[in-house]
Amino acid sequence: MMIGIIGYGNMGRAFALGLKDSYELIAYDKDLLKKDIALQDGVGFASSIEFLLDKVDMVILSIKPQDLPSLASLNFSKKSVVSMLAGVGVSRLKEHIKDAYITRIMPNLAVLFKKGVMAFYSEDKKKDTIKSILENLGKVYELDEKYFDAFTSLGGSGPAFIASIVEAMRLSGIYMGLNKDISYDIALSTIEGVLELLKHYTEEELILKVSSPAGTTVEGIYNIEKSGFKGILMETFIKAYQKSKNL
Ligand SMILES: NC(=O)c1ccc[n+]([C@@H]2O[C@H](COP(=O)([O-])OP(=O)(O)OC[C@H]3O[C@@H](n4cnc5c(N)ncnc54)[C@H](OP(=O)(O)O)[C@@H]3O)[C@@H](O)[C@H]2O)c1
Repeated sequence: MMIGIIGYGNMGRAFALGLKDSYELIAYDKDLLKKDIALQDGVGFASSIEFLLDKVDMVILSIKPQDLPSLASLNFSKKSVVSMLAGVGVSRLKEHIKDAYITRIMPNLAVLFKKGVMAFYSEDKKKDTIKSILENLGKVYELDEKYFDAFTSLGGSGPAFIASIVEAMRLSGIYMGLNKDISYDIALSTIEGVLELLKHYTEEELILKVSSPAGTTVEGIYNIEKSGFKGILMETFIKAYQKSKNL
């Protein structure tokens, strides 16, 4: 199967790097500086979109939403088109992408390391094949389009919120006299350990397991509950969701 990538920016390239070992790829970008990058990555580069469309079975669309109208004059000749354009629903995609079977995805940046999470909604009869191709880049969640904004909050913005927690842990370590690098390493390793533990225990079980009577953990948990920290965190995700809905 030959896959075309239209738009070889941050995300188009991340998808190419994740898929190039398993599939034949050809990219096109209107910024010709991207040609050298694609060729260095071992990805073919088409001289035009028309040339690319002629060669491929499936297209990954990774241009910015505002560039979508530039595709309206093309005929996609019943190809499978996978769009990752943030906030652009299938009905709007169909207005600009003529004669194609549309799949909409919302990936996060961790696709760079094949650890992404991705929302997936498809109207393509080849959706199972498309889903298995995308699974090379991480976990794929088949969701109704109405849940894409919730996914954008948890999976898309979530990494930045978790990174803020890591930053707070590092700064706390520094405050308590630890070196900034050691502090960072301890924060990351702790989170890695927590991810493993949460595969075996629920959140509540884990909290109870590390809370000894009159100990340090329960002191901190008391502060979390008293300060409304969980409510603030929930509000953060809900605000990102509402912003995504209103874009
Ligand atoms: N970055 C993320 O974490 C993320 C996450 C989820 C979804 N997305 C979505 O992914 C898409 C790509 O984002 P990005 O950050 O990779 O953007 P980007 O780095 O700006 O890449 C887009 C590339 O597409 C090119 N382009 C624009 N119109 C084109 C056309 N008609 N034909 C061929 N190439 C064209 C652009 O060229 P010029 O620069 O010359 O315009 C640019 O090189 C966006 O729709 C975004 O909503 C991004």
